[in-house]
Amino acid sequence: MSRPLVSVVGAGQVGATTAHLLMLKGLADVVLIDVVEGLARGKALDLLQAAATEGLPSQVTGTSDYAALEGSQVVVITAGLARKPGMSRDDLLMANAGIVGPVAEQVARHAPNAVLIVVTNPLDVMTALAWKRTGFPRQRVLGMAGVLDSGRLRTFIAERLRVPPVDIEAMVLGSHGDLMVSVKSSIAVEGRPLSARLSADEIDRLIARTRDGGAEIVALLKTSSAYYAPASGIVRMVQAILKDERRVLPASVWLEGEYGLKDVCIGVPVELAASGWTRVIVQPLAPDEQQALSRAAGQVREGIATVLSTAPAKP
Ligand code: LAC
Repeated sequence: MSRPLVSVVGAGQVGATTAHLLMLKGLADVVLIDVVEGLARGKALDLLQAAATEGLPSQVTGTSDYAALEGSQVVVITAGLARKPGMSRDDLLMANAGIVGPVAEQVARHAPNAVLIVVTNPLDVMTALAWKRTGFPRQRVLGMAGVLDSGRLRTFIAERLRVPPVDIEAMVLGSHGDLMVSVKSSIAVEGRPLSARLSADEIDRLIARTRDGGAEIVALLKTSSAYYAPASGIVRMVQAILKDERRVLPASVWLEGEYGLKDVCIGVPVELAASGWTRVIVQPLAPDEQQALSRAAGQVREGIATVLSTAPAKP
């Protein structure tokens, strides 16, 4: 049986690290695409040579030609500008809409049956834009943020309590930004509620650090935003899709009434399978969490309206 094909559009740090992880895990053959001439080809050659040294069979190709998307089971869009110190994800709105919109149209053209994972910021708005531009069923378009944000929260709790992160469960929903929603009631350490181990103030501090987790790294790196953890979040989702795991992970998807929200992409728990996401898991939220989710949705909806009014779809 031939290996599945995953295409990654954008050969920057997140895209190249994603390709590297896919290759190391033997999950798929990889096509890396970037408009910058030579960038994807150079990285793909480097990765292919790494595969030879690792003794891995994966094929990795690099190109600036979108026709190479053909046959992809999953396409990941990482293309776009990353944050610079002091910038918010929303500062990237218009610049990245001009990149993600046309890329999504290429995906629809060359890989009409793929599941699309969007990673470019501002994440939830870009996911909605990509969904509209592809015309795909909503179950085949997802934004990756919740896995990353939940991983950050689990890291901080693990560090504080000196327990392995695998023993911590946490679900971060809402938008990937200042209005992310850490569902406190869902946080469990070794099967027990976190509130049994930490004070409310301390939990709030860890949640605030999670909300600012991307900016903390941007401030340190100065010339880049995070990429190892984002790539791991992407690959976690890709694996769930390729292996038809039916696993529940948080992802940004277009809602049509779930959680009382519609006409917006926002992070919610979804079941991931080979066909994309199959259902939204509606878990009970505290009233303040539901309000926070609605507030996040309102902000994302404004972003979507801005992007769609200034960048109309091609006739
Ligand atoms: C982060 C940026 C990439 O959260 O959104 O690291």
